[in-house]
Amino acid sequence: TGGSRSGSPLMGFTAIPISTDDAVHIAPGYTATVLAPWGTPLLDGAPAFKGDGSEDAAAQALQLGDNHDGMHFFAIDGKNDEGLLVLNHEYCTVDDKKKHYVWLFGAQGEAVARKWGRDHVHKAMNAHGVSVVHIQRNAQGRWDLVKDSLYHRRITAHTAMELTGPAAGDALLQTQGDPSGRRVQGTFNNCGNGFTPWGTYLTCEENFNNYFGTTSGADQRTVAQKRYGLSAQASLFQWEGHEPRFDYVKHPQESHRFGWIVEIDPFNPTSMPKKRTALGRIKHENAAFALSKDGRAVVYMGDDQADDYIYKFVSDGKYVKGGDNSRLLDSGKLYVARFGAGATPGDFAGTGEWLLLDKAADPKLQADSRFANQAAVLVYTRLAADVVGATKMDRPEWVAVHPHTGEVYVTLTNNSGRKAADEANPREKNIYGQIVRWRETGGDAAATTFAWDIFVLAGNPMVHTDRKDLRAGSANVTADNSFNSPDGLAFDNDGRLWIQTDGKYSNRGDYAGQGNNQMLCADPVSKEIRRFFVGPKECEVTGISFTPDSKTMFINIQHPGEEGDSHWPGGGNSIPRSATVVITKNDGGVIGT
Ligand code: FEO
Ligand code: CA
Ligand code: CA
Ligand code: CA
Repeated sequence: TGGSRSGSPLMGFTAIPISTDDAVHIAPGYTATVLAPWGTPLLDGAPAFKGDGSEDAAAQALQLGDNHDGMHFFAIDGKNDEGLLVLNHEYCTVDDKKKHYVWLFGAQGEAVARKWGRDHVHKAMNAHGVSVVHIQRNAQGRWDLVKDSLYHRRITAHTAMELTGPAAGDALLQTQGDPSGRRVQGTFNNCGNGFTPWGTYLTCEENFNNYFGTTSGADQRTVAQKRYGLSAQASLFQWEGHEPRFDYVKHPQESHRFGWIVEIDPFNPTSMPKKRTALGRIKHENAAFALSKDGRAVVYMGDDQADDYIYKFVSDGKYVKGGDNSRLLDSGKLYVARFGAGATPGDFAGTGEWLLLDKAADPKLQADSRFANQAAVLVYTRLAADVVGATKMDRPEWVAVHPHTGEVYVTLTNNSGRKAADEANPREKNIYGQIVRWRETGGDAAATTFAWDIFVLAGNPMVHTDRKDLRAGSANVTADNSFNSPDGLAFDNDGRLWIQTDGKYSNRGDYAGQGNNQMLCADPVSKEIRRFFVGPKECEVTGISFTPDSKTMFINIQHPGEEGDSHWPGGGNSIPRSATVVITKNDGGVIGT
């Protein structure tokens, strides 16, 4: 299989077939190199990675974290060979049946689970968060960490942060440890990301609910805690046993301090990260930035849960190039999307509107006693969106904005539990996912209406051979590019759309012929999709960024061997490690050409 077709002027590479082995595969003429795996020594005094997971919490705090996800390359002085690579460490892989960390403690994982101590919890907390890594390309063309750089930074579940914006200081955010409601310890489950034109990184707190549980022995959750999915009793990661703030019965407001977009200035290593409450509290996937026609900051955001929503923030103030934009994300309007069928039912296209989430402007929110004030609307964003009638989507993951046209794309990864199809989410029991796109009215990112269509309905035409069966996928899905569960999504400067998957890798049944998780490239005009890269066993492919000249691409391989069956990237008997992969074209050209 494989072989490029002549269609797209944007894509010059030859498509590759699927693979199922424990290695990365890339289009001919390109090279993929591993950089900065979990455990890489970063800060002063960090030990080398031992290889058996025996590092303690203090060592982990000085090394790169686990499960790399969203990422951005901030060039230094516009250079193509030096910059700050900022990346998320989403979580540590756990076996949720056996209740132990699969790789964090190496082969001792199961034994550690029986003697679970405070240092083990703290190691996990230190493996989460964000790394700022100063990197440089040497004369041989190889990228590496800059030794002893003062830019290197680890941000973990312990790092002091500030809550800012309309909800900061509200009673819903006050705890015993922080009566001010403005100071939080840490960030975790940092999934996708965004970045701003003023040089800051946006890290997105996603499944924070998995870190809150109770040792009280009873389900004492409120309606809101259930809507956000807190565990009834023991949490998935079981931090509450050694860090009481994660026990929702003892500390009922602590979970309100997670689920935010966090803004980080990577160029100021002592700056305090800011949790921007104006952007709402959901299971944030990523944060795609755009400017409105009049220069306001617009941030598109997905809430990754089956039947949850897509949001947009529009700032009150305007971006000032070279000016102080440090409060821009602290006041503005928060909207949630409604996708309508439009004039022609059944054509996978329609019109939509952005519904304002503002207590002062909405009688339904005013009449609802759950929202005492606008701070409550922001803390309980999901509940407010339920009230205004937003469209339940098939798990919104990454949003990406076309750099020239402003058209917006979102991955809807799958929703096997969907009961009632609608036009933007047209399949019940949707196991493959789709990418939906929209054009804001007047081409203005601040518009309150839009026109949408489905860019690709992922599917498997090798298994579901009747092309009228929606499980076969849309016409741009073929035997050569079939995939499931699109997740990571980004445009490059030329407008190529890069699609990364986080789906089923069984290569059997409904997924036969789809292989390991992968990265594909698409032409937004012709809609052609070509497979560019395939990851190793049991991984997800995520995180996309480029140098300014688009000649170096950075992606992340997350959780290789999440079920225990990988030795990537070390090979031999080594334990698998999430890592960044650097992609270059052998002739030195732009990636994808
Ligand atoms: Fe962390 Fe929705 O992926
Ligand atoms: Ca329609
Ligand atoms: Ca994701
Ligand atoms: Ca996913």
